[in-house]
Amino acid sequence: MAGRAPERVETARLVLRRPRAEDAAAIFLRYSSDRDVTRYVGWPVHGSVDDTVGFLSYSDTEWERSPAGPYLAFSREDSTLVGGTGLAFETPFRAATGYVFARNAWGRGYATEALTAMIDVARATAVRRLYALCHADHRASAHVLEKCGFHCEGTLRRYAEFPNLEPGEPQDVLCYSTILEKLL
Ligand SMILES: CC(C)(COP(=O)(O)OP(=O)(O)OC[C@H]1O[C@@H](n2cnc3c(N)ncnc32)[C@H](O)[C@@H]1OP(=O)(O)O)[C@@H](O)C(=O)NCCC(=O)NCCS
Repeated sequence: MAGRAPERVETARLVLRRPRAEDAAAIFLRYSSDRDVTRYVGWPVHGSVDDTVGFLSYSDTEWERSPAGPYLAFSREDSTLVGGTGLAFETPFRAATGYVFARNAWGRGYATEALTAMIDVARATAVRRLYALCHADHRASAHVLEKCGFHCEGTLRRYAEFPNLEPGEPQDVLCYSTILEKLL
């Protein structure tokens, strides 16, 4: 029976769980204030921990109104916060996903592992279309989506602003999706 997603999920090397108020400082220090990490994300780099508190408030709203919301990713080995991912529900059957990892956690396959888990989480809800948008120049992110079986539906030309790249100038974006079969 399709329903709410679990608030905690384990993968081979990660614990993914719903964010909590006490996570603000770690998120800020590990990735949300890092200009390299946030270059291609859709939200402005955090200038102070108050911005991160704002994200946590958004996260709680998402978890209250939807079957799931943002997840933080922790290393199972040493419990360090390594990044974040999640599902943003637009309708009960359509959700967007994304991921962001701390600079020193890149290149270890964590994004691939977290995205694979998000597909499984989406499958446990009523989501049929899971999609992700990425900047047309962001090869690493496109590659992660392709490794996880997402199909590139095309380029959305001058579709979205990337606030940390060139504010006020909409950029070309790749639209990727995967279709989840209905559970019996
Ligand atoms: C993009 C990002 C999520 C990738 O995370 P990651 O944990 O390093 O990703 P993975 O290790 O699972 O996979 C990355 C893949 O891209 C490949 N890659 C890395 N840089 C690349 C590039 N410039 N061009 C093509 N492929 C690239 C890697 O080789 C790897 O593929 P492989 O496993 O076949 O060798 C990470 O760099 C990040 O958090 N960036 C900042 C936030 C961000 O941009 N998020 C996405 C917004 S759409």
